[in-house]
Amino acid sequence: MSERETWATRIGFLLAAIGSAVGLGNIWQFPFKTATNGGAIFVLVYLVAVLVIGLPTLLAEFVVGRRTRANAVDAFEKLGYRNWRIVGALGAFIGFWIVSYYSVVGGWVGRYIIGSARGAYFDAPAEYFGAVSAGPDAILFHALFMAITVAVVAFGIEDGIEKATKVMVPSIVVLMIGLAIWAATLGGAADGYSYFLNPDFSQLAGNAGEIIPFAVSQAFFTLSLGMAIMITYSSYVDEDTSLFVDGGAIVVTNTLVGILAGLVVFPILFANNIEASTSGPAAIFVAMASAFSQVPGGRILGVAFFAVVLIAALSSAISLMEVIVSWATDHFAVSRPVVAGGIGTALFVLGLPSAWDTAWLTWFDNLAYKLLLPTSVLLLLIFVGYILGQNAISELAKGSSLRSVGPIWLWTIRTIVILSVIVTLVLGIETLLAGDFLGLEFIGEDPPLVPPF
Ligand code: PFF
Repeated sequence: MSERETWATRIGFLLAAIGSAVGLGNIWQFPFKTATNGGAIFVLVYLVAVLVIGLPTLLAEFVVGRRTRANAVDAFEKLGYRNWRIVGALGAFIGFWIVSYYSVVGGWVGRYIIGSARGAYFDAPAEYFGAVSAGPDAILFHALFMAITVAVVAFGIEDGIEKATKVMVPSIVVLMIGLAIWAATLGGAADGYSYFLNPDFSQLAGNAGEIIPFAVSQAFFTLSLGMAIMITYSSYVDEDTSLFVDGGAIVVTNTLVGILAGLVVFPILFANNIEASTSGPAAIFVAMASAFSQVPGGRILGVAFFAVVLIAALSSAISLMEVIVSWATDHFAVSRPVVAGGIGTALFVLGLPSAWDTAWLTWFDNLAYKLLLPTSVLLLLIFVGYILGQNAISELAKGSSLRSVGPIWLWTIRTIVILSVIVTLVLGIETLLAGDFLGLEFIGEDPPLVPPF
């Protein structure tokens, strides 16, 4: 076994973790889930969840990773709890599950870069989405996205990920700010802001069973939690780093990018009279395409926007691949390129149904949000809160001068955080069971579903 690599620089870890967090979760999922779950009320529940549940959970994953300096599965064994390895394995499995369709959406993004350059969607943005989001086109671009991800991971931690994210992260923020300013000038922008930022509390009363699981799991999804990713990344961190400070920086940056995405998407949706609540996974694609088809320089803007989104998506998919590569290279005498290639192939196959029909993509996504993510996070929190306990506090304290944070953190995990995740899980399972065959009722429907808008 070779000596374990560490991040070359502290900022390298921070940027890579932010690179993992910032991705399609912020730019595609967040506007999409906000649009279909009542608008600003969803945003509100989400923000509370990020702060009260997301940040403590992120720190919990950091503590496990740094304390053991091992991959996410072995970490639990190294701590002396062999049976709890299941939590690391479950996280890796969920990451796998999610990336299978994440890669399909990443493929759509790649397709839209070409579509923008050619102006292919200018006449009929909604129909264009229908045509490229499912079927052979989608499969081809899903394969391309996976291939690029594999190539980056094959180069290794420092060479591949650290260098790439140093460029990726700042460029994403700058471009999103520019686009948000531009969207503000559109007629109808005010209605978009109102839908996005002015909560309608009556929505919560009727739809809590949908809104809460989606909003809380959105916090997990966007921070790359419950997927063993942050455990793995923090296993390369040294003891002079304050996990609390870095965790806070990651949460703030990540949340700002999501809000920025909303400030871009919602004014455009409303300015173009696109019905937000039924837009589904198409929301951002149709919104942006209609905008680019109307403004001068739309082709260039379109290429720039989708290129940024592609970069964000890649740096996230890379992080998941790293979880598995880290485990495999710790255990077996296999090279990074071989492991990455094998995993990429498996992910491609698992993503095929989602690429063939967006109804499958939605099904994979719903299961991740309502069942898988909350289950994985709950188990991790029980482990850190009740089994590691005081040891977790001492790990968190390393590299930090904020001594009082640890005990408060542990207390919140043991109480409100765990309780909230249980509520989320119960509501999620309830709504899943309310559908036919766990939401699989679309099978056999003809013709294959394309999202309505
Ligand atoms: N945090 C990522 C995002 O918001 O896009 C979610 C993610 C998904 C990370 C899939 C990694 C991954 F493989």
